[in-house]
Amino acid sequence: MKIQVRVPATTANLGPGFDGMGLALGLYNEIEAEPAPALEVHVEGEGAEELPRDATNRVLHSAARLFERHGRPLPPMRVRCRNRIPLMSGLGSSAAAVVGGLALAAAWLGLSEPPDRWLELATELEGHPDNVAPALLGGLALVARDEEGLVAVRVPVPPLRVVLALPAVRVATEMARRLLPAQVPLADVVYQIGHAALLVHALREGDWTLLGRAMRDRLHEPYRARLIPGYEQAVAAARAAGAAAVCISGSGPALAAFAPANHEAIAAAMAEAFAAAGAPARTWVVEVAQQGVQTSVALEGPDGP
Ligand code: HSE
Repeated sequence: MKIQVRVPATTANLGPGFDGMGLALGLYNEIEAEPAPALEVHVEGEGAEELPRDATNRVLHSAARLFERHGRPLPPMRVRCRNRIPLMSGLGSSAAAVVGGLALAAAWLGLSEPPDRWLELATELEGHPDNVAPALLGGLALVARDEEGLVAVRVPVPPLRVVLALPAVRVATEMARRLLPAQVPLADVVYQIGHAALLVHALREGDWTLLGRAMRDRLHEPYRARLIPGYEQAVAAARAAGAAAVCISGSGPALAAFAPANHEAIAAAMAEAFAAAGAPARTWVVEVAQQGVQTSVALEGPDGP
């Protein structure tokens, strides 16, 4: 048996959707697992030098939690992680690890439940439902926690390309959250509700003019921008190159720029602005991932029928 899992990066918040929405992105981590005499963990790509190669690895730790729920210990396995999502970048690498681990365990256990069944467990393991939900569901995911628990829905959006620019600094989400005020004025909440609602409509309709108006935030970006060297310059460069809207991806430091065209030029302009501000940046142009985590199981192994 060989299990293959592919899980997308995510960009949470999308400006005014703080803690309440995220998009799945076409930048994937892949995980392969097969039975082995003892646990073996291989990591390639992003984080290869620093991620643990034992059961404390987030993928394995999350998988173990689902096995535990089914009354079984984590079986010995060989796991290969091919990581393309940079760590501590605001692109959902930890949500991808958690969701990937749960998908791996579910396939191993032969569960046929839909991935949204793992929303609570994945959020318990990772902490941020606005990253977890799009990694599970794909597309644009809206989430809320209320008295009855978590609720998440996937909103269909047309094909859309997103420019990502990641300056060479790392931001720990926990630290980026400590910068936020515990209380905010009612006027800011009203501003936020209106803009978040308009944003969903703009994304669903592919309305670029409205998107440029709607992607404005008062709850987190004003406090977090200072963690990102070159923030102002990169946003201005993206706009000048044709971006309709730019937001901090998750808690940063990556920025996500949205545009109907000129994506490569926008990426180049952002990279240049970051470099001029002393923060060399990597860039990607990615599609919105319409599907969330995907799993396949080859029962006969790679040489099978
Ligand atoms: N909504 C979370 C935050 C996402 O902004 O802190 C973390 O990626």
